[in-house]
Amino acid sequence: MNIDVFGLGYVGSVILAGLASEGNKLYGIDIDPSKLALINQGEPPIDEPKLGELMKSNMGNINARPSFKEDYIQSKIGFICVGTPFKEGIGLDFQYIYRVIDSICIKLSEETNFSESNPYLIVIRSTANVTLISELEDYIETKYGLMNNGKVVLVLFPEFLREGSAIADFFDPKSICIYSCRTHSDYVQKILSNIFHWNNPMFTDMGACSQIKLLSNSWHALKVAFTNETSQILKEIGVDTSKTFEVFCQDKKLNISSSYLNPGFSYGGSCLTKDLSGLISLGNEVGIKTPLLEGIQKSNDVYIARVSDDINQINPNLVIFFGISFKALTDDLRASPFLLLANKVNSKSNNILIVDDIISSKLKESSLSRGNQILLGKLRANIISTEEFAKLNIKDSRNLVLVVCHQQYLKLVEGLTLVDYKIINLTTKKLHTEDENSYSYV
Ligand SMILES: NC(=O)c1ccc[n+]([C@@H]2O[C@H](COP(=O)([O-])OP(=O)(O)OC[C@H]3O[C@@H](n4cnc5c(N)ncnc54)[C@H](O)[C@@H]3O)[C@@H](O)[C@H]2O)c1
Repeated sequence: MNIDVFGLGYVGSVILAGLASEGNKLYGIDIDPSKLALINQGEPPIDEPKLGELMKSNMGNINARPSFKEDYIQSKIGFICVGTPFKEGIGLDFQYIYRVIDSICIKLSEETNFSESNPYLIVIRSTANVTLISELEDYIETKYGLMNNGKVVLVLFPEFLREGSAIADFFDPKSICIYSCRTHSDYVQKILSNIFHWNNPMFTDMGACSQIKLLSNSWHALKVAFTNETSQILKEIGVDTSKTFEVFCQDKKLNISSSYLNPGFSYGGSCLTKDLSGLISLGNEVGIKTPLLEGIQKSNDVYIARVSDDINQINPNLVIFFGISFKALTDDLRASPFLLLANKVNSKSNNILIVDDIISSKLKESSLSRGNQILLGKLRANIISTEEFAKLNIKDSRNLVLVVCHQQYLKLVEGLTLVDYKIINLTTKKLHTEDENSYSYV
């Protein structure tokens, strides 16, 4: 297949060589003549392991030129890999993308071969933001009239490769997310699957597709900072840090896994809070600053405060919590974020009820531990079971807030018929309908 690549830097030159090695004819376009000269001699324009060999051995399939218009060779697809530098106060600067779009559209406007059934696919591999694709669609339609007639299809397919292992990452990408407008997704999938041999492409909406790279790289940065901050503490107390992290990484169930990566509410429970505090205090003792670890605690508390402020702002007549222990199916109230939230809400509004079957039945049997009773404090009198809740007449209550903390109560709450209410969902499961009355924070 003939493929155009715009921008032959760290991303573009790897795509150029990688796709050429699979028998495609690659046409690279870059404004930097020194890069073009190197590429056309079979030399890589950047230092990247294995890129030189790949380029040299596939020279016959690679051609680089300074402009799309000159020596134009028809293809069905172009990958845009130009820089999108971050500018303070502005965000990502997309001027290079717009220049490439202009050069493509000027040439395509002269061409008669493209149509709705045979469009040119512009695939953005550069880092984007949430609005880039829709803004480009408007731009292309307004300036060139190539969007609504289907001659051009825009796709966002962010590149995730890492310098230093770019070739391996290119051939074995771990995260493939693609956004294309729904009407073209079959066509896009067909063309892209002729070029790439993936096993798990994910077609997402534009928001997710543009943000996943920011999220991934922030996560990687967090892992590095976490590893180094904690390692400094461990080293100070004479622990073998490499060995410790080797063991740490062996836990593929909780440590190196998708566990704890479900958007929901603040963490709680005795272990996470206690051990985090322990590590921070160890850092203090040995003189290692722990801004990241302290930030974790702060972030967790800020979230609880945000939700309680929102509830207090509603100034409800009655707030009903569904679940209060730190986690469903347990009676453990230690560091429960829901209990902390209930207490914050309670400080302004005394009208509070807590539906929790486990805590309620333990209270009735007088089997709730003394520690948990102390933690409940005055709220002890406000705990009821689902059976007792069913007998309440809240149907016509005004200004009611229902806070779902444990997933098991979601169905019950969503099935209620109420007139003047707000549902606040703090679980990791989505509500069936989200509107001004029913709201999930994440
Ligand atoms: N470097 C990485 O590891 C990496 C990884 C994933 C994604 N990205 C993203 O990919 C994009 C490109 O990054 P990069 O590191 O390859 O950038 P780069 O600066 O190395 O390469 C960009 C190339 O685009 C060329 N260019 C600029 N304007 C042009 C135009 N009008 N026409 C043709 N070519 C033009 C430049 O001459 C340069 O060679 C960025 O958005 C970046 O965030 C980079």
